[in-house]
Amino acid sequence: EGDKRALLRSSVREFLDFPSPGICFRDITPILKDPTAFSAAIDLFESYLRDHFPKIDLIAGLDSRGFLFGPALAQRFGIGFVLIRKKGKLPGPTECVSYSLEYGKAEIEIQVDAVDPGQKVVIIDDLLATGGTMAAACELLKRRNADIVACLVVIELSPLKGAEKLKSYPVHALLQYD
Ligand code: PRP
Ligand code: HPA
Repeated sequence: EGDKRALLRSSVREFLDFPSPGICFRDITPILKDPTAFSAAIDLFESYLRDHFPKIDLIAGLDSRGFLFGPALAQRFGIGFVLIRKKGKLPGPTECVSYSLEYGKAEIEIQVDAVDPGQKVVIIDDLLATGGTMAAACELLKRRNADIVACLVVIELSPLKGAEKLKSYPVHALLQYD
């Protein structure tokens, strides 16, 4: 486990001043380029879930980088994967939640038939910053009467205290950065 975490950490690149001045952007693309690092990420998510939650029905991934990790994890459990997308991308009836960003607003949505009431759902994304996106995803699934089991991310930017926004749900990050 320690080795897998070390491999993952060595696979995250930092770009200063992207996408705007003063930001240090953590880039997870090298994890996907290296199949050993990618397997390590999925292994760590899988063992966390197996250790803590006996039953999971569905994995829900956040647009867009949650889509990279969620399907592989869902396959490990033989369960389905559903998409939570930025507004306007999903056809048919959807449930929508708007949330505030640092500047302005954003909206995410899910198809209403993606989740059945009472299903045990794990939400996954690449990174937790302010937690606004993950909190909105929790609100969306709660409105569909899902039972949210846990929120998973590869990276948590700890000083932004995103996990505090999700206080009623367990948050698990593979890596934490200051
Ligand atoms: C990033 C990241 C998370 C979110 C975290 O996505 O992948 O989804 O921001 O930020 P928060 O915790 O402050 O809400 P982004 O909005 O850049 O979208 P993208 O995946 O489409 O690039
Ligand atoms: N990396 C990737 N996505 C992000 C970041 C970051 O450092 N901060 C907010 N979203």
